[in-house]
Amino acid sequence: MKRQNSQTPSTSSTGPQTGVLADQPAMQTEASGPGVDIGLEAKALTEVVGGLQRMLADEVLLYVKTRNFHWNVEGPDFSELHKLFETQYEQLDEIMDEAAERIRVIGGYATGSMGEFLELATLQEVPGGACTEGRMEERLLADHEHMARGMREFAARCGKVNDLGTQDFVTGVMQAHEKMAWMLRSYARRPMARPGSPSAGLSGNA
Ligand SMILES: [Fe+2]
Repeated sequence: MKRQNSQTPSTSSTGPQTGVLADQPAMQTEASGPGVDIGLEAKALTEVVGGLQRMLADEVLLYVKTRNFHWNVEGPDFSELHKLFETQYEQLDEIMDEAAERIRVIGGYATGSMGEFLELATLQEVPGGACTEGRMEERLLADHEHMARGMREFAARCGKVNDLGTQDFVTGVMQAHEKMAWMLRSYARRPMARPGSPSAGLSGNA
């Protein structure tokens, strides 16, 4: 059953939305079932579950995108980027598992279908195997920075509704995205191959 996130109006008044608090439809955000008596109001739990569902959807999308780039990266930095993308999609795999389990811990049901993930996600997919617009590391960098901004906003909101456990978890995820962004930024800002050098003309494919 689809539900409208009751917190959408209040969160949309805080300026441009990035990440998990963006004005997107929410699903299965009901968190007031029996057995969840951890000192938080049902309304707060429902709001936090909604944020976690969007976070989970974005992590899944970014996982698939990073895996796509791991498979299809080309150019003089193939080996390094191939490995870096593998390291990062493994980190994203852990994050999305922890996000889904956090949803269960506070009484929600984790989204588990690709259609719902695509409906909830705030990131954009890259269709096709080749990355034709920009470099792969730059595309992923933008996504991780988007996630870090969203997690910062979400963590602050969790604190306001006194969900300190989720706030701690989300803060950790924010830091993970900040670090992955740093790694990607370091590649994105490296010197470009000079015209006429053996690697010239290949780096644009990555
Ligand atoms: Fe592989």
